[in-house]
Amino acid sequence: MSKTYNVAVVGATGAVGIEMIQTLEKRNFPVGQLKLLASRRSAGRKLKFHGRDVTVEELTQDSFDGMQFALFSAGSSISKEFAPLAVKAGCVVVDNSSCFRMDPNVPLVVPEINGDDVKQHKGIIANPNCTTAITLMALYPLHVAFGCTRIFASSYQAVSGTGAKAIAELERQVDQIVKGQPVTKEVYPHQIAFNVLPQVDSFLPTGYTKEEMKMENEGRKIMHHPTFRASVTCVRVPVYRAHSVAVSAEFAKPVTVEAAREVLKQAPGLDVIDNPAKSEYPLPLYQAEKYNCAVGRLRKDCALDNGLCFWVSGDQLLKGAALNAVQIAELLV
Ligand SMILES: NC(=O)c1ccc[n+]([C@@H]2O[C@H](COP(=O)([O-])OP(=O)(O)OC[C@H]3O[C@@H](n4cnc5c(N)ncnc54)[C@H](OP(=O)(O)O)[C@@H]3O)[C@@H](O)[C@H]2O)c1
Repeated sequence: MSKTYNVAVVGATGAVGIEMIQTLEKRNFPVGQLKLLASRRSAGRKLKFHGRDVTVEELTQDSFDGMQFALFSAGSSISKEFAPLAVKAGCVVVDNSSCFRMDPNVPLVVPEINGDDVKQHKGIIANPNCTTAITLMALYPLHVAFGCTRIFASSYQAVSGTGAKAIAELERQVDQIVKGQPVTKEVYPHQIAFNVLPQVDSFLPTGYTKEEMKMENEGRKIMHHPTFRASVTCVRVPVYRAHSVAVSAEFAKPVTVEAAREVLKQAPGLDVIDNPAKSEYPLPLYQAEKYNCAVGRLRKDCALDNGLCFWVSGDQLLKGAALNAVQIAELLV
């Protein structure tokens, strides 16, 4: 009989957690026992895995006994407290929160880019920020070919990036507006329905948000490129699922659209959708629930030397979270 692994999913009832369970199932990860963990509020809830009910348990200090993998997506404070306990119990932790990403002892991994880094792990492997991961799926192959020096980018980020409560907020606000009722806000500081918010995460003293700085900081670590620079504006848009990013990238070597297209066509986990004459380009609506990210709108940047503009879109619940985490676990089995 082939070897199986006992897997704990922490935050199993959340937007990412639900995708994690489905991704383990769809990719036939060799799961022995599956343990679904969440807060006390969700204990007793049942979720399906390979057609059978699995009961959600409350996360406690003893939850990891007998587990070999722990996939965390319950926020930074939970990761900070419980990931070390999971490691102590013998698990390899793949963490979706930002808690350990910049820790020099923790590999930060996108398997298509720096999969070999998993070998350095000491129990915890971090999953990157979702907008960064999706951008790098297109930027990294171009960097290998032409040497990226810096990017300017704007993101168009779906509400599911904020979690299950934000999906409900967009649904509720659309319904309230259609019915002519007052709009109520719980998650975002402003109405998100029929609006765009130039704020993702909290502000730093520099005027950038924390989310905006992840592109440069995490990008440097993942691409092994310590001088990479990124000036980013992150924007929340009333899209349910899949983030998009408009990127202007500058390269050390001359780059043509044709040469870039050839590079991107060969890139793993990436589709090229780029036929302006037919209005064909990546759309978040159609990238939702897809494993691959997609790139299009390739053109020479008219304001940068050796510059290329592109538009990349990808399901942030999958490549930005659950899929990437399961791919990392796959590298270890
Ligand atoms: N959403 C994305 O696209 C995305 C992408 C990359 C990374 N991430 C990261 O993934 C994490 C989860 O995000 P999400 O969007 O899935 O959020 P979410 O939908 O709000 O889900 C949060 C999950 O954490 C659980 N949880 C909350 N407090 C807990 C506690 N005290 N003990 C145990 N479990 C607790 C929740 O359980 P209950 O249901 O019981 O409350 C739920 O399962 C965050 O760190 C986020 O930054 C998210």
